[in-house]
Amino acid sequence: MGFYQRHVIPCLTHLAMSQSQLLPFRQHVVGAAEGRVLEIGVGSGLNFPHYGTAVGSVIGLEPSAELLRMARTRARTAAVPVTLLDASAEAIPLDSSSMDTIVTTWTLCTIPNASRALAEMRRVLRPGGALLFVEHGRAPEAGVARWQDRLDPLWSSFAGGCHLNRKMDDLVTGTGFRIEALQNSRLPGPRTHTYLYEGRARPV
Ligand SMILES: C[S@@+](CC[C@H](N)C(=O)[O-])C[C@H]1O[C@@H](n2cnc3c(N)ncnc32)[C@H](O)[C@@H]1O
Repeated sequence: MGFYQRHVIPCLTHLAMSQSQLLPFRQHVVGAAEGRVLEIGVGSGLNFPHYGTAVGSVIGLEPSAELLRMARTRARTAAVPVTLLDASAEAIPLDSSSMDTIVTTWTLCTIPNASRALAEMRRVLRPGGALLFVEHGRAPEAGVARWQDRLDPLWSSFAGGCHLNRKMDDLVTGTGFRIEALQNSRLPGPRTHTYLYEGRARPV
């Protein structure tokens, strides 16, 4: 892995993810977590302050050493106990049915094999547990989606593997989850980058 991937991408990720317009989504999604929580791709730990009193503990999984270093600092001041795990969501080193809630915020776009990762999330989630997510992805307008497909290879190599054109609801339901609540919205900004999928799903 080169200097750009190892050092520049984590700093850009932290800057991009610190936007204040993302805060209400973090509060809403993360605030609904309960019990033993696994957060996938914690990045620099920006979700930690939003876990509420219903949360017993958080395991934060993250494969980037530099982002883990940033997350470690935030974990120290979190109101809930946070353990960090250096791993990929495509092979989660946790027991089956061991988690009450899984949280993913703007991460399914970047995981190389998102279906494999979701199958792993389903495995570690207990029956009746919740997958809480907010992600950007494929826009419903055919013209915008075409641009997302065109830009995707270039964007992905510049933005640390982030994909613009994943249809998040189909990914989730295609891996053994039933979506219980889904809200789509748009952030201000380029239409190729700002279509959001926020929701809650449970293992079928
Ligand atoms: C756009 S950032 C979002 C970070 C964080 N979830 C947030 O909301 O600030 C995407 C994250 O996905 C992580 N990621 C990439 N590949 C991954 C994988 N295979 N398993 C888990 N996380 C991964 C990246 O390292 C990065 O932290």
